[in-house]
Amino acid sequence: MKLLLLFAITGAFARTFKVHNSCKFTVWPAIFTDLNVAPNIPNHPTGWEAKPGSSVTFHVPDNWKAGRIWGVPPATVAEWTLEADGNRDFYDVSLVDGFNFPMRITNNKGCPVADCPTDLNPECPSPLREPQDSSGNPETLQTVAPGTTVLRKPVLLRYYSYFKTNCRNAYAYAYDESSGTALWTCDAGLKANYTLTFCP
Ligand SMILES: *[C@@H]1O[C@H](CO)[C@@H](O)[C@H](O)[C@H]1NC(C)=O
Repeated sequence: MKLLLLFAITGAFARTFKVHNSCKFTVWPAIFTDLNVAPNIPNHPTGWEAKPGSSVTFHVPDNWKAGRIWGVPPATVAEWTLEADGNRDFYDVSLVDGFNFPMRITNNKGCPVADCPTDLNPECPSPLREPQDSSGNPETLQTVAPGTTVLRKPVLLRYYSYFKTNCRNAYAYAYDESSGTALWTCDAGLKANYTLTFCP
C-alpha cells in the first residue's frame, strides 16, 4: 500500500515549474487552478512575494488543467493546460486580461517559447490607458490601475497590431489562436518542465 501511494504521489507531481522574477521590482505572483476543470493542484502557495532576481521552484501535477500564473491583475497571464487534447500540453502568455509586465514561458524539451518580451506600457495607445468618456471609445476600454490596461475584444480588433507586433508570441485578443503564434503545444509524453520568467 505504501509503495503504491508513494508511486502515485511521485507520478502525479512529475513536472517542475520555476518562476523567476527578472523585473527590477517586487512582484506578488498568484497561481490559480480552475477546480471546475480538474482537481489537480501544484504543491505551492497560491500567492507569494517575488523579490527582484528571486526564483521559486515547485511541482505541478502532470495533469494540471487550466492553471494560470500572474502578478496582480489586470495583468499579463501565463496559462497551462497539461495533458490535454491529443496528449499535448497547451500553454500561452495572454494579454486578454491586460498587460502589466513582460513574461516568457520556456521549457526544457525544445518546445516553442511563449512570450510577450516587450514592455507595452510606454507606448500604450492612450485610449487604453485613460478612463473613457460617454461619447468616445467602447466602454470595454478602461484603466484599472496606473500603467496597466484591460484588453477586451472590441479594443483588440482596433489595437491588435500594436500588441501583436510587439508581442508576436502572445495572445493579443481572446480568439488569437488563428494567428498561429498565440497558443503553443508540447508533447505531454515529454513531461516538460516549464520556467516562467517575469521581465525576461
Ligand atoms: C524536470 O526537472 C526535475 C528536477 O530538476 C528533473 O528531475 C526531471 O528529470 C525533469 N524532467 C524532465 C522530463 O526533464
